Amino acid sequence: MSSRRPSVVVILAAGEGTRMKSSTPKVLHAMAGRSLLGHVIEAASTLEPHHLVVVVGHGRDQVQAHVDEVAPWAVTVVQEQQNGTGHAVRVALSGLAERGIEVDSGPVVVLTGDTPLLTGGTLVNLMIEHDATSAAATVLTTRLDDPTGYGRIVRSADGSVAAIVEHRDADEAQLRIDEINSGMYAFDSGALASALGRITTDNSQGEEYLTDVISLLRGDGLIVSASVCPDADDILGVNDRVQLAEAAAIMRDRINVAWMRAGVTMADPATTWLDVDVELESDVVLRPQVTLRGPTSVASGAVVGPGTTLTSCEVGSGAEVIHTWAELAVIGEGAKVGPFTYLRPGTVMGAGTKAGAYVEIKNSTLGDGAKVPHLSYVGDADIGAGSNIGAATVTVNYDGVEKHRTVVGEHARIGSDTMLVAPVEVGDGAYTAAGSVITEDVPPGAMAVGRSRQRNVEGWVERRRAGSPAAEAAERARQDAAATPEQGQTPEQGEEPQ
Ligand code: UD1
Ligand code: MG
Repeated sequence: MSSRRPSVVVILAAGEGTRMKSSTPKVLHAMAGRSLLGHVIEAASTLEPHHLVVVVGHGRDQVQAHVDEVAPWAVTVVQEQQNGTGHAVRVALSGLAERGIEVDSGPVVVLTGDTPLLTGGTLVNLMIEHDATSAAATVLTTRLDDPTGYGRIVRSADGSVAAIVEHRDADEAQLRIDEINSGMYAFDSGALASALGRITTDNSQGEEYLTDVISLLRGDGLIVSASVCPDADDILGVNDRVQLAEAAAIMRDRINVAWMRAGVTMADPATTWLDVDVELESDVVLRPQVTLRGPTSVASGAVVGPGTTLTSCEVGSGAEVIHTWAELAVIGEGAKVGPFTYLRPGTVMGAGTKAGAYVEIKNSTLGDGAKVPHLSYVGDADIGAGSNIGAATVTVNYDGVEKHRTVVGEHARIGSDTMLVAPVEVGDGAYTAAGSVITEDVPPGAMAVGRSRQRNVEGWVERRRAGSPAAEAAERARQDAAATPEQGQTPEQGEEPQ
């Protein structure tokens, strides 16, 4: 067989991450909708280890709670003091033993929690190399144009790893080596246990270095191999916010390239940010400045953007969503949303619906074909199929104590500037007059009028605002009307409901 399932994967995540200058532990900073640690756990899961141990220290409560949430099958072990990478692995393995967790003889893999671009493929290659060379240890390495700061891989004539020399201990020739230690390894479990018992703190930092295990195993006459990762990004460690942004950009590009290859059009991949849990069908079009977060899905033929952020939303096929901010909303097939639309949790828009400019919808359903085209607030409402909600309509859903529902039937027409004071129900096919305050239920097919009747005080402006531009305009209009007899009458009031 090419590679054995690891017995244990240990992820080192006890460090402070001082350079982040953050109250959040470094490994909990996020990109693409997942923490740095979460990305490493995801890569590790590819190997299907029997046990996954996360070594925590700084910010342990937060890190432990996070691990319990994203990987409840993982074990967290506390490293009280950060006495070095070797010490951290020793603490991890004894932590398992203390919990009575039996560990078989399969390989032990050590990873770092701050390398979010690590892929399952890179780890599979590490395991294949480890197995194929019957190594006691296999170091994951890469080549860097600028290897400054990293431990260098010193190879023997036969290509095996002779030693890892830390940057500060390296001589002139060793400093020119461009192959570096990623700080991630696969070990034979027995060999690792034996060597961990022998490492000392006899170095400049007074720490137990995991790299010392490598020289001890070589001293035992065992084989140490290296798996060279062709893409150095995979092992990029995040130490500060600059590297956080760099890694996030690389991840964004990787995610976007995968979706474009799967048939998604992106007008501007550099401003398109997709979380790892996003699902897109082929022939989706993403215009510039689109952020899709959480488990958002977009069906075939839908167009999203520009300038749109959707969190945990479902967008149906052929829908168009422009300049919109939405969360936990369902946008039906062929629906039109935006521009400048705010869809809050619980919005469910049916097929062919519309939520237009300056419209906010919350905890409401729109039946198929229903439209809220302009400047409205629809909250806690059920709008029936084919109904139209006139401009500037508001569902008055909150009495200061409780929220109430508004129910509008099918094919109803709510006049512009209607206040629907909930709880209230407008029947199928009913109308409301523009400017109405609807406080009582409207039967099907009725026209509800809930406003005071208009009264015109003739000549008021010329009397009370004499000399003003308005009064002068009114005077001209009166004189023009007098000169044209057939138009001299006050126009008939339209056939208005009272
Ligand atoms: C280590 C390697 C170096 C390698 C580099 C890659 C050693 C001695 N050197 O150096 O060869 O090129 O990583 O980045 O191992 N950690 C703990 N507990 C501890 C100490 C560290 O959990 O007591 C964690 C840190 O949080 C970090 C990781 O282990 O995630 C690496 O530790 P760090 O101190 O950064 O090692 P380097 O000096 O970078
Ligand atoms: Mg480091």
